Amino acid sequence: MPSALVLLLLLLLLAVSAAANAANFREAPQFYNSPDCPSIAEDLEDPDANEQHLCFDRAVHVAMTLDTAYIRGSMAAVLSVLQHSSCPQNVIFHFVYFASANVSSLRAVVSRSFPYLKFQLYPFDEEAASRFISTSIRSALDCPLNYARSYLGSLLPTCVGRVVYLDSDLILVDDIAKLAAHPLGGDSVLAAPEYCNANFTTYFTPSFWSNPSLSLTFANRKACYFNTGVMVIDLDRWRAGDYTAKIEDWMELQKRMRIYELGSLPPFLLVFSGRITPVDHRWNQHGLGGDNIRGLCRNLHPGPVSLLHWSGKGKPWDRLDANRPCPVDALWAPYDLLQTPFSIDS
Ligand SMILES: *[C@@H]1O[C@H](CO)[C@@H](O)[C@H](O)[C@H]1NC(C)=O
Ligand SMILES: *[C@@H]1O[C@H](CO)[C@@H](O)[C@H](O)[C@H]1NC(C)=O
Repeated sequence: MPSALVLLLLLLLLAVSAAANAANFREAPQFYNSPDCPSIAEDLEDPDANEQHLCFDRAVHVAMTLDTAYIRGSMAAVLSVLQHSSCPQNVIFHFVYFASANVSSLRAVVSRSFPYLKFQLYPFDEEAASRFISTSIRSALDCPLNYARSYLGSLLPTCVGRVVYLDSDLILVDDIAKLAAHPLGGDSVLAAPEYCNANFTTYFTPSFWSNPSLSLTFANRKACYFNTGVMVIDLDRWRAGDYTAKIEDWMELQKRMRIYELGSLPPFLLVFSGRITPVDHRWNQHGLGGDNIRGLCRNLHPGPVSLLHWSGKGKPWDRLDANRPCPVDALWAPYDLLQTPFSIDS
């Protein structure tokens, strides 16, 4: 009875996605500061407190995107940040969402699971990035919200001078305050783990390398790969240097002549590689999603781990739902807040 089995699986999948759509996430426990945490001086009597806490200097500011496709990952990421933070009440989240999405529904989902979370939602105008992405080469992997990280300087209030950007397919297992406090050396705008053995040739097209005015971009630079899913960003320097415009320039060129393969990463490499502050690799154990080959599991890289990142095509929630998890997915599962039809704690 293979067709009956298929039908059953379809029904199960529908039930799971319906659960996700109905935002059936359970409430996370409340997390408290340890006694030696700095006060971020919240005045609860002040009606504008919500606006003002966005500006608290001593807070840890975290930026993430929030959309229906990845919300389960985002919720798990938030929980992991709070759970491993020694001052969880000092973490402020800045969520960027599609302007076309239902913001009250997104707000309700976040507030229901995290009633005490300090957060703000920022609409991202899809058109802002879309006009640089030629529609003919657009795919599901090239979601415009991937480009939101290039616009944090203008999306977030100017009082926020430093932010940690996090992808939605990751979890922290260490105190985010340590990452947020990473010094940004010289005049660098970003800090992130970098990988200097990566072969840059493959990230850009032959038409890029054969055009000296373009390939010279990397002359006199120690161009190293970095993953844009985890970055400490000095937003003051970003705004002062108008780095959004620098990234848009490359995206505009890409639209006229193909200089790299799809994605939001190459413009970041063009503008920043060789100019970032390196961070210990423990802060982005990436590639755990599997490397674009169906069913391929990745193991942890050797060495200490502070952050696990399921970058790549496979996502832990999909594999868990399909009952085909990779060994590393067991590390993500404890942070899953979605109440699936299978979950026992309701
Ligand atoms: C947005 O979501 C809220 C609650 O989740 C719902 O009541 C409202 O009808 C939705 N609005 C639209 C325009 O879909
Ligand atoms: C980098 O990749 C290109 C093309 O894939 C190859 O021709 C070249 O030999 C590689 N360089 C190194 C140092 O591995």
